[in-house]
Amino acid sequence: MLTKEQVIELLNPIKDPFLHKTFEETGGIEEITIKEEKKHVSVKLAIGKTNTAEQMQLQQTVVNVLKKAGAATVGLRFSQLSDEIIAEFQPTSDKDPSLLNGQTDTKFIAVASGKGGVGKSTVTVNLAVALARLGKKVGIIDADIYGFSIPDMMGVEERPKLRGNRIVPVERFGVKIISMGFFVEDNSPVIWRGPRLGKMLTSFFKEVEWGDLDYLLLDLPPGTGDVALDVHNMIPSSKEVIVTTPHPTAAFVAARAGQMALTTDHEILGVVENMAYFESQLTGEKEFVFGKGGGEKLAEALQTKVIGQLSLQQPYEEEGVFAPSVYQEDHPNGKEYRKIAAKIIAKYE
Ligand SMILES: Nc1ncnc2c1ncn2[C@@H]1O[C@H](COP(=O)(O)OP(=O)(O)OP(=O)(O)O)[C@@H](O)[C@H]1O
Ligand SMILES: [Mg+2]
Repeated sequence: MLTKEQVIELLNPIKDPFLHKTFEETGGIEEITIKEEKKHVSVKLAIGKTNTAEQMQLQQTVVNVLKKAGAATVGLRFSQLSDEIIAEFQPTSDKDPSLLNGQTDTKFIAVASGKGGVGKSTVTVNLAVALARLGKKVGIIDADIYGFSIPDMMGVEERPKLRGNRIVPVERFGVKIISMGFFVEDNSPVIWRGPRLGKMLTSFFKEVEWGDLDYLLLDLPPGTGDVALDVHNMIPSSKEVIVTTPHPTAAFVAARAGQMALTTDHEILGVVENMAYFESQLTGEKEFVFGKGGGEKLAEALQTKVIGQLSLQQPYEEEGVFAPSVYQEDHPNGKEYRKIAAKIIAKYE
């Protein structure tokens, strides 16, 4: 009949199906009892993950091995290895390298608005570029799955590459970018709904090789719809920048987006007032074409501050550089974005 030592010898080379390490390495053989007269061997094994299909398979293997070696009956019990051991042996490819594992130092900033067309995407792009100009490692997730616009705004023409089964984001102006726009053909509309949409967003976090980022900005779709809510739930630690125009109506609607952030416990970093005024090139006079004070009012309602005001102006045209929405460093709006970026950095550091 089998001895304990023989049982150990038989089981030692078998691999933990979850950790892909042998029981000898994991020390997963916890208990062996042998009943001579009944030729019964009972074993307790600790494995990486219990109650899985892999466990059933392992059970078969162990029973077969022991029966072949002379056991008439085999009793098997499974338990879970300690977290420390699992962490030690977890294959790197199975470790959650994603930005959602709660262990990264990456700061998430969601850019939200109540209304469409107020300049959320423009703010996302320029804030990201300004942070990068200040030496930060920055990424953008274009979370506006249906209305993606980041690649066009930044003038990105490449597509992401694959490394193994991970997506390498495209980089422009020192900012890493991922967008649904990279995955549709010929600018065709995205017609996914519900679960697939949610999965896409999760993939943007989990399957993209972001590397080590200081800031990840999310360009949210307008309003307080599903995606905005998903993002809030997915990244509990994200903070928000709320974009509005100075028009009181825009500010009211933006307040709703802000309220959502507050009720889901997301801190608001500040309000950015976009298209705040028009400055005459000739006289330098400011005209408040979209009204005045909307940003202030909104900031008050959300108990935060206006952290920037952008004028109504396009970036300069630049020979050989195509990025229709990126303001140059020396552009008045480029300078304002730099200040906003510096304020945000100061809030975190
Ligand atoms: N300060 C500005 N001066 C001039 N044009 C601007 C300014 N900000 C944004 N725009 C322009 O206004 C339009 C809307 O901006 P943008 O796409 O950033 O808004 P959005 O809030 O992201 O819109 P959507 O809700 O459709 O996602 C764009 O054509 C953009 O180039
Ligand atoms: Mg947009």
